[in-house]
Amino acid sequence: PPPPPPPPPPPPPPPPPPEVVFIAVGTPSGEDGSADLTHVLAVADELGEQLDHNCLVVDKSTVPVGTAGRVEQRVNAGPVRRGLRARVVVASNPEFLKEGSAVEDFMRPDRVIVGCDDERGRDLLRRLYAPFLRNHDRLLCMGVRAAEFSKYAANAFLATKISFINEMAGICARLGVDVEEVRRGIGSDRRIGTHFIYAGCGYGGSCFPKDVKALIRTAEHEGIEPGILRAVEARNALQKTLLFQALREHFNGHFQGRVIALWGLAFKPGTDDLREAPSLVLLEALLTAGARVQACDPVATAGVAARYAAAVESGQLLLSDSPYAATQGADALVLVTEWKQFRQPDFPRIRGAMRMPVLFDGRNIYDAAQLAEQGFLYRGIGRPAVGSCKASAA
Ligand code: UDX
Repeated sequence: PPPPPPPPPPPPPPPPPPEVVFIAVGTPSGEDGSADLTHVLAVADELGEQLDHNCLVVDKSTVPVGTAGRVEQRVNAGPVRRGLRARVVVASNPEFLKEGSAVEDFMRPDRVIVGCDDERGRDLLRRLYAPFLRNHDRLLCMGVRAAEFSKYAANAFLATKISFINEMAGICARLGVDVEEVRRGIGSDRRIGTHFIYAGCGYGGSCFPKDVKALIRTAEHEGIEPGILRAVEARNALQKTLLFQALREHFNGHFQGRVIALWGLAFKPGTDDLREAPSLVLLEALLTAGARVQACDPVATAGVAARYAAAVESGQLLLSDSPYAATQGADALVLVTEWKQFRQPDFPRIRGAMRMPVLFDGRNIYDAAQLAEQGFLYRGIGRPAVGSCKASAA
């Protein structure tokens, strides 16, 4: 008879209980603009149901001041209900990752903020992050509420820098000054710095708009008038309309029969994210005004196709991943998102393809004088108009 089959291997030992649990769920805008904590609190409740040992819970989500306290209460209620002694401490460790460079930002952080009122919790996080902070100790320990607030203050400050330079651009445009020269002039002052002072057609994405709004709600709730934050928001809303205003002026308000090439749909290069993208404000206005739009983006066309299915169906909106196909027969080219592939295109080829060689540069990435030499009328944000345009032979 064949030998009996070997006994099944013993089951693997259960994994050791986690010492640290990270919460990293979204905090979208609620109806009134404040942060919607539904997901964070749902995780807290679920943790409370599962937890049977002491551990550190770390909140990485962007949450209003006081949320760690609420999470701590909700998690700890679970074991109490089940008659267990397990308890958690909640720390705040906000993330400062940018879309498109999240891994790089994580591996080489400018700083890691640890907000924890418990010494053992702080030590645990210090050990956890040590491998990523070997060259410079950039771990900043603070109170849990200060950490929660720091994330909002950081995003609000960056958004303020952008709206500030955009407002300067508006003044420059009136004075015949090139904001790009001004940007270089002020950026060389280390107190101002060279980052986040690029004028353009407005900021978008999943963070700045949402976090500025949420901070405004917090301030109002505390009886503080958030004048600066409101101005930042208002300037950004205005900025997103500037390209359409410039086009409307250029075409004397008549868009029927006009073909507009639009380069870049994502809210910034390196992502297909369309949340709060300035491109959508322009696209919407152009379609409403009756223009035909030929838009190009390396990765974000699918999202736009789904949103504007009717316009795609009727042929009013053409989506493509070829920048050159988008310029075919166009009366104007508008650069909205500064993808690498748009930086040094074949301008003679584009000039040949367009009906009118007019370029609206929503991110000020092109050399105005060079474009004028090549026969384009060039308009940037906060830069004097350069060149003139004659209908191309095409
Ligand atoms: C931002 C923060 O940078 C990051 O620290 C935080 O964790 C999440 O929010 P992200 O939304 O990925 O990151 O994009 P970011 O690269 O900051 O750009 C945001 C918007 O600002 C983009 O629309 C970009 O075009 C615009 N921007 C940026 C400007 O208009 N001018 C600038 O000088 C910089």
